[in-house]
Amino acid sequence: MTNKLLVSTIIVGAALCSAQSQAQEPSTAGGERLFRSRCGSCHSVNMGENRVGPHLAGILGRKAGSVAGARYSKALTASGFAWDEDRLQAYLNNPRQVVPGTTMSVSIRDAAQRTAIIEYLRDRSGG
Ligand code: HEC
Repeated sequence: MTNKLLVSTIIVGAALCSAQSQAQEPSTAGGERLFRSRCGSCHSVNMGENRVGPHLAGILGRKAGSVAGARYSKALTASGFAWDEDRLQAYLNNPRQVVPGTTMSVSIRDAAQRTAIIEYLRDRSGG
């Protein structure tokens, strides 16, 4: 008896691990999937829908810590900048380095994944 299931599981796993493409072409579909799994428990992309974190509709160009009714740290509301791609890249990589005292602790270490998520958010921002 061969253990075909085990073998194919290993093959699929190996394929996933080697699926880092050099050419960074983030697809919005990939970004949506990443957003759902990494951000969606705390954030919605629908205007006004605040969860543990603020909604992220129109996040690009939005002033940090500015959503009415969202629960923010003092650090974020006092930060005084607006979100652009560079800030998002840096914040998602290491939130506390960009905004010391922020209550968001989730980080995405993979630059291509961050880009895919940001592109998805940009799409959802209608700009
Ligand atoms: C465990 C819950 C949680 C997860 C998961 C999470 N966040 Fe957050 N996020 C927060 C909280 C809470 C805040 C408010 C932080 C503060 O006030 O310091 C926040 C703030 C933000 C802000 C600033 C919003 C504003 O109005 O200034 C952005 C942008 C953001 N998150 C993006 C993301 C993205 C993208 C992901 C997925 C990669 C993510 N977050 C995952 C809880 C989370």
